[in-house]
Amino acid sequence: MADRPHRRTPDQLRSRLWFDNPDNPGMTALYLERYLNFGLTGKELQGKKPIIGIAQTGSDLSPCNRHHLELAKRVRDGITAAGGVAFEFPCHPIQETGKRPTACLDRNLAYLSLVEVLYGYPLDGVVLLTGCDKTTPACLMAAATVNIPAISLNVGPMLNGWHHGERTGSGTIVWKARERHAAGDIDYQQFIDIVGSSAPSVGHCNTMGTASTMNALAEALGMSLPGSAAIPAPYRERGQMAYETGKRIVEMVWEDLKPSDIMTREAFENVIVANAAIGGSTNAPIHINAIAKHIGVPLNNDDWERIGFEIPLLVNVQPAGEYLGEEYFRAGGLPAVLAELIGAGKIHENAITCTGTTIGENCKGKFTWDRDVIRSYDNPLKEKAGFLNLKGTLFDSAIMKTSVISAEFQERYLNNPSDPNAFEGRVVVFDGPEDYHHRIDDPSLNIDEHTILIMRGAGPIGYPGAAEVVNMQPPGALIKRGVLSLPCIGDGRQSGTSGTPSILNASPEAAAGGGLALLQSGDRIRIDLNKRTADILLSDEELEKRRADLEARGGYAYPASQTPWQEIQRSMVDQLSEGMTLKPAVKYQ
Ligand code: FES
Ligand code: MG
Repeated sequence: MADRPHRRTPDQLRSRLWFDNPDNPGMTALYLERYLNFGLTGKELQGKKPIIGIAQTGSDLSPCNRHHLELAKRVRDGITAAGGVAFEFPCHPIQETGKRPTACLDRNLAYLSLVEVLYGYPLDGVVLLTGCDKTTPACLMAAATVNIPAISLNVGPMLNGWHHGERTGSGTIVWKARERHAAGDIDYQQFIDIVGSSAPSVGHCNTMGTASTMNALAEALGMSLPGSAAIPAPYRERGQMAYETGKRIVEMVWEDLKPSDIMTREAFENVIVANAAIGGSTNAPIHINAIAKHIGVPLNNDDWERIGFEIPLLVNVQPAGEYLGEEYFRAGGLPAVLAELIGAGKIHENAITCTGTTIGENCKGKFTWDRDVIRSYDNPLKEKAGFLNLKGTLFDSAIMKTSVISAEFQERYLNNPSDPNAFEGRVVVFDGPEDYHHRIDDPSLNIDEHTILIMRGAGPIGYPGAAEVVNMQPPGALIKRGVLSLPCIGDGRQSGTSGTPSILNASPEAAAGGGLALLQSGDRIRIDLNKRTADILLSDEELEKRRADLEARGGYAYPASQTPWQEIQRSMVDQLSEGMTLKPAVKYQ
């Protein structure tokens, strides 16, 4: 490991303020006695050993992360072997597929509670046990705010799912099975069986959904050990990596290697490049912008387009590609992707990582041995796989993931010889996911293959936490005719496992007075991907009139909060383009 400039002496350990503070014997005794009462010895607490937190995100309520209950034992072994003392503690659960109304509501809540734990308890460093979608950003945001030495360990993806000889990827199979169910190819029980086959073991989603994305990006950021993100959860390498992670955090405490040393502007730019190359989730800009805000690095959706759009798709994993987590791991995982990007000069090689060495030193030359799964930079799966950042009268910022645009969509909307990158259409507007479910098959909406579906009332305020609902399926009648997707635009999010060509994360949302609030079904809109614009085709006078009407009605109406946290978050949350952070929280750095 590289020598760090500021090495911390045993007398400078933060935990000594609690456990060995001769200036305040009363408090020291109080702090000590209760931590001794379950069998720890004075030598462990006062022996000038780093006290390392293990932020446990696994539980019965969080099945994606539940395997961390096992992995934490190996983390603890590593911490002990390196001379530290481990303190494992529970984090607020965030299960993507279990929490109503949406797991994203709890990202900021888990963040807040982890900040309090890291700040208020005698911890010199922390191992963040990440995995399911929102657990990774919540943990990294908290580490950024408190800025004590921190390292993340992913739980790892599930083994590949199989059904009748075909790979079934988590999440992605749900969207495919929904189409087959709507078309009448499979019945209810077959639907459940096919989806069930995609979850054959412990671990998080095995597709390049938000979980695989965010953990790959934690590694690209430098916050987890090289090669750790992609190891499938049940593989022995995962337990071995847990042990190494435990050992490493103790060294990081002695080296005083903090999140602010690692999460630099260069590291975030590397993340944007890596995200395009892996075909990462559209949730990534939200969470990465939030982490950047909490560490104090300016980053916005213009950066995502400027730095990321031209980067090609290299990873052949669902939903943008064919394979799943096991093949991706065997092909070399993120270090092999980074090696390609380094070779093409797209990575800031000098960005320091949690190993104390640079990302260039960690990954250079680690090329893949499976060119079908990880393509070379010169022979990618798709050119220009990053996100576009669109703006216009519909919103100030919205993201489009072009790598999932299907050939059929391309044909129908984009291959217009007069204007190959623009499309126009009549909109049908839904106010929230319930409205969509009730009305999508209503024939009076006249939805055809040229319709654009609008989802509003689904942003951080309109639908607390911002719902993953923008990828709307066409009406059953259209699917039976072979029209499997329509362009969708919305102020909510979209599952990272979905391949629908959507324009999403629209900010400001309708509930915050964004242009989507002015739309009515039957209006026409125009999207120009070359100019990066998205506009309502109405006169300025008409738009002004509608804005005045909206204001007279008291703004866009949305349902009441169901819980105190929903109400609190709604009162202070920022928009998706701003990372959906809590406005008062970002000043604490
Ligand atoms: Fe937890 Fe996908 S639902 S990782
Ligand atoms: Mg999701």
